[in-house]
Amino acid sequence: MRVVCRASPSLALVKYWGKLERGHNLPATPSLAISLGGLETVTVVGTSSDGRDRVVVDGTERELGRYEDFLAAARRILGSGRGFLIDSRNGFPGGAGFASSSSGFAALALALARLVELRDGRPAFGLDLLSELARTGSASAARAVYGGFAVLEAGAERAEPLFPASHWPGLRVVAAVVARGEKAVSSRSGMAATRETSPYYDDWVSDAPALFTAAKKALAARDLEALGALMRLSYSRMHASALASDPPLLYWLPGSVALIRACAELRGRGVGAWETMDAGPQVKVLCLEGDLEAVKRGLREALPGLELLVAAPGGEPELFELPPGTEPPLPRSGLS
Ligand code: DP6
Repeated sequence: MRVVCRASPSLALVKYWGKLERGHNLPATPSLAISLGGLETVTVVGTSSDGRDRVVVDGTERELGRYEDFLAAARRILGSGRGFLIDSRNGFPGGAGFASSSSGFAALALALARLVELRDGRPAFGLDLLSELARTGSASAARAVYGGFAVLEAGAERAEPLFPASHWPGLRVVAAVVARGEKAVSSRSGMAATRETSPYYDDWVSDAPALFTAAKKALAARDLEALGALMRLSYSRMHASALASDPPLLYWLPGSVALIRACAELRGRGVGAWETMDAGPQVKVLCLEGDLEAVKRGLREALPGLELLVAAPGGEPELFELPPGTEPPLPRSGLS
């Protein structure tokens, strides 16, 4: 028996960056995120014949290291001891700052739970419990199990859904591929270095809740200008705290700066283009559907030939059983 889950990455409008010292993978800052519908991770899980776990991501077998804690949590929470075969594919560049760990661990938590339900005849696990399981893999994945708009409070074990995708169907995210290839410093080690060495870390953490509260209000009111301005503060302050680490942690490339400037220029011309960045050089731009073409043009004028992925608020992850002998669907890329 094999189960498939297709899930979209969770892009933080207000960032999680830093973990609490207590507990396992508990965020130090609250985050507010949108599901990037149109970009997808497709994960297939089954049972291994030799009782051992095996993880393949984008066609390459991975060391279990990163997955060990997660799989131990999965066995404890789901109450199933057997080995799992895991095959995951990203439709967009993985490990490059497009939040593939959020969609990856969300898809994995949901698919494993469904496999255990079907195979072992267990009653359905609640999404809140699966959000907690996903968080043990990657805190941003706790948000991605819900789709739509979701929040993860500081110190929380589980994320919570805030609005479904239908809250703001006209919203778009244009994700610019500034550089392909895996990033040099993962979010996990970058945020640890920031906490340990940046003199600005404590200020970043104490400032974050006010941005979070204001951004939730702006999102509730579908006020793109207010939300966009708060988003810019959140990513700028996150990156400022990282840049003040020892050694300094700079995720930006010249292309990132060119796109940040292009967004400012677009806004100067009355086009609502609001950028954000995560632990990598990629720039993601929030805008309204009616401005989409102008935003794409503006970004491509700044960086000719730029590859762009376009997302709209995504729904809940999809789960289904894969009939024997059939191939899983290819993940959508959002390529535009
Ligand atoms: C900058 O969730 O990838 O994308 O919990 O250590 O796996 P771990 O980190 P991860 O960090 C995401 C950081 C971010 C902001 C965000 O998604 O909130």
